Amino acid sequence: MAIRLGDPAPDFEVKTTDGPIRFHDWIGSGWAILFSHPKDFTPVCTTELGAVAKLKPEFDKRNVKVIGLSVDKVEDHTKWAKDIEETQGAKLNFPLIDDHDRKVSGLYDMIHPNASETFTVRSVFVIGPDKKVKLTITYPASTGRNFDEILRVIDSLQLTANYQVATPVNWKDGEDVIIVTAVSNEEAKGKFPKGWKELKPYLRVTPQPNRN
Ligand code: BEZ
Repeated sequence: MAIRLGDPAPDFEVKTTDGPIRFHDWIGSGWAILFSHPKDFTPVCTTELGAVAKLKPEFDKRNVKVIGLSVDKVEDHTKWAKDIEETQGAKLNFPLIDDHDRKVSGLYDMIHPNASETFTVRSVFVIGPDKKVKLTITYPASTGRNFDEILRVIDSLQLTANYQVATPVNWKDGEDVIIVTAVSNEEAKGKFPKGWKELKPYLRVTPQPNRN
């Protein structure tokens, strides 16, 4: 069964390169990203894992834990981690799930049989503090993901959760945002002291609230 936005993120117990975990306990009270890799010792995945390791301080800043998954055993992951460090110049600094039995891939519908019977596609799930799915992305195995875009979406999701704003097309951190229509002008006066520009009653633009 496909997982849709707003669905509870399925919980599971697994072995990882950092030891056994129960997913929801591991997430704790913050945000999480679960992302899949088709197979160990494959080129695109090697570059992705190096890139995510380098971005770890950015995820930490946003209170987001990251966890990868590949359909091989933890012993293979550990050997692969040496190649990642050697070729990408970054040490694996987050856990990688041992999903050799396809348990988690099955729960999260990461194997798309018409793409491959055995490998996962490149899935990304962003999970909120309420353990609900806030974002899903699916890329084919041959295309490496854009993790800067994933950080951008997390910034947007966290702004929505904290300030009742949405972000417009191609928005980047620091740019103006949109007051959600559920907030009346009366309420907006208290919430957005910097004011807003009303282009239409449904399109009210305000400076990003968590910026000076
Ligand atoms: C890769 O990571 O390079 C890859 C994995 C599976 C299929 C195609 C590419």
